[in-house]
Amino acid sequence: MIIATNWKAYVESVEKAKKISTLAKRLASRSSHEIIIAPPATFLGLLAEKNHSKVSFMAQDISSMTGGAHTGEITASMARNSGASYVLVGHSERRTMGENNELVTKKLQHILAQGLTPVLCVGESERDEDGSYLTFLREEITDVFEPLTRKERLQVVIAYEPIWAIGKKASESITVADLTEMVLYIRKILTEFLSGRATNNVRVLYGGSVEPNNIRTLAEGSGIDGFLIGHASVELESFSALVKELEV
Ligand code: 13P
Repeated sequence: MIIATNWKAYVESVEKAKKISTLAKRLASRSSHEIIIAPPATFLGLLAEKNHSKVSFMAQDISSMTGGAHTGEITASMARNSGASYVLVGHSERRTMGENNELVTKKLQHILAQGLTPVLCVGESERDEDGSYLTFLREEITDVFEPLTRKERLQVVIAYEPIWAIGKKASESITVADLTEMVLYIRKILTEFLSGRATNNVRVLYGGSVEPNNIRTLAEGSGIDGFLIGHASVELESFSALVKELEV
């Protein structure tokens, strides 16, 4: 499985960043899972430099522009040169700041052009009885997948992160039954872009209030390939516990 962690802006000191990164390297050396960490951009190079561990690094976002006169922008190329091999794109916390599917697609193409793996975040803000959240999700995936080549489509990792489940407690997270249904639905959408068997090669992660006490339940039988974890991944004790829960 993939255990991807998104530090968001929770980690603001170099000292704490180094502590979590050291722990991630130690956990990864003993784990059968792939551990990916996404520190804030200012710490990425520092932590990922000379990384010989099994941990992979991920940028939390990149610019929709390539290099040039763009003050403050962090390009996909910078992320790669700082040691990232994955990049989050379209996180709901970016989308609420105005990112739409068009911008997300542009960023995703820059990520792929640098040979990096995009982790495309999708997910509805709420669930309604008439199922329009399903149409919303379909559009988020379709708009981005349409312009891509078959090879590119296979490189995208999808992180299903329903907004209503983000930043809460495990008890308010998705149920395993609903997650199973959503993973099937996402793979069904993908059949419009890839042959049936190939859709199984697209990795689908879940994110939204994953904590040590629900990670195993969500992993078992839901058909997901891993997790994208926020708040529970930035405290040493809960981060260790998350990885250990999946080791059984
Ligand atoms: P939480 O795990 O804090 O709910 O965050 C999930 C998330 O947004 C990861 O990208």
